[in-house]
Amino acid sequence: MPKIPEAVATIADKDERELVSLAYEACLKAYAPYSRFQVGAAVRTARGTYVGCNVENGSYGLTSCAERNAVFAAVTTEGGSVHIEAVAVYARAPGKKVKTASPCGACRQVLAEFGRDASVTFLEEGQFRTMTVDELLPAAFELY
Ligand code: THU
Repeated sequence: MPKIPEAVATIADKDERELVSLAYEACLKAYAPYSRFQVGAAVRTARGTYVGCNVENGSYGLTSCAERNAVFAAVTTEGGSVHIEAVAVYARAPGKKVKTASPCGACRQVLAEFGRDASVTFLEEGQFRTMTVDELLPAAFELY
């Protein structure tokens, strides 16, 4: 078990702390030899938790974000009726300060598909911040 960073260990809410810990552990698995920006995400549903890390590729554009990988893992296990309750994201870039680890625009749209009311906890200037998917992506695209 890797040592959890101090900022994670001090999160008061137990469920949130556990989800962020899973995101931290997932970020250690990141394949990020190009950006060195390691991202981990953990997604909680009523039935389980799922994790993902970013997986880069030498042809850059094929890179897959941690958040989407975690959502796709949830769908793969639970099917398309999956409802996401909470998400945690952790990012680190050894030797560099991470400004924010909030999900990118594309990942926000994917999160909106499975839980607009889900809470999303992410790092911002060394502090954890929680917002809903709706707050992160107001007026999300909806087909029909
Ligand atoms: N990345 C994520 O995994 N999630 C995001 O929401 C934004 C960016 C990854 C992609 C790439 O491997 C690295 O971070 C730098 O962009």
